[in-house]
Amino acid sequence: MMLEQKVKITSHQKIAPQVFLMAYASPQMAAQARPGQFVHLKPSGPGPLLLRRPFSINRVKGSNLFIMYRVVGRGTSLISSLPKGTEMDVLGPLGKGFEISRKYSEHVILAGGMGLAPMQFLADRLKAMKLESRIFYGCAGKKEMLPCPAPGKIIATDDGSCGYKGFVTDAFLTCIDKFKKPVVYACGPWPMLKRTAMICRQHNIDCQVSLEAFMACGVGACQGCVVKGVKEYVTVCRQGPVFDSREIDWEQEFGL
Ligand SMILES: Cc1cc2nc3c(=O)[nH]c(=O)nc-3n(C[C@H](O)[C@H](O)[C@H](O)COP(=O)(O)OP(=O)(O)OC[C@H]3O[C@@H](n4cnc5c(N)ncnc54)[C@H](O)[C@@H]3O)c2cc1C
Ligand code: FES
Repeated sequence: MMLEQKVKITSHQKIAPQVFLMAYASPQMAAQARPGQFVHLKPSGPGPLLLRRPFSINRVKGSNLFIMYRVVGRGTSLISSLPKGTEMDVLGPLGKGFEISRKYSEHVILAGGMGLAPMQFLADRLKAMKLESRIFYGCAGKKEMLPCPAPGKIIATDDGSCGYKGFVTDAFLTCIDKFKKPVVYACGPWPMLKRTAMICRQHNIDCQVSLEAFMACGVGACQGCVVKGVKEYVTVCRQGPVFDSREIDWEQEFGL
């Protein structure tokens, strides 16, 4: 059930250049949240931010929900200046998260750049369910790398400054045959998601992708976030943000 609440920031810190980790307390949202879901937030009261901004739930610890975000424009810049104790208006948890099934023998997480944001929560949940998971994390270079505490993770950097030199999808491809019955969960930029979907299609691997789209309402009312599915247009906020990669018309929508 979606909640609308006034919550208080319980911690807020810079963790990498332009990247912040924020937590707020909400026992009800914490109890309901599923990996892959997101929240739609803005500071409380009248202010310069009219529209809410969508952020994946990065982690849940006790009654705290964590958000890991990059400052890209006006909204995230304003949010980054909010001190601990600030009241925010939050709608959530929203959307459809990752579907976790025990029918797979390995759970493979592919994260590109800020696409790491929802994956810590997913990895925590898989661990709690005693399911075997492996994270592949790709970023531009060592300087852009985000903290990713998963043991055994495989790092890929575009410039080769750390780990595998190349895209995270290629790092995955080099060891794809080692997995017996995997499922892939991916989040990152569109070209990375499309490449992941193509690789999984060719190897007959089930794949779930977390999509990003511009959002106004966040609840399926404005049609602002539609993307082309294979059968019909789908709303990322309500029918997603997580989709089976076979549901998306990658060629028509993105032509990449
Ligand atoms: C489901 C979902 C989960 C997300 N999770 C994260 C996350 O965990 N961490 C993170 O760093 N970013 C995440 N994003 C992207 C984040 O919402 C945008 O970076 C942010 O809204 C930009 O706002 P801004 O005001 O700083 O930028 P501006 O460019 O000034 O924004 C102007 C308008 O465009 C919208 N907008 C801009 N960029 C995006 C975008 N990429 N997606 C959706 N709306 C956008 C804003 O809501 C606003 O209405 C997520 C997006 C979606 C859709
Ligand atoms: S943001 Fe309004 S329908 Fe998705």
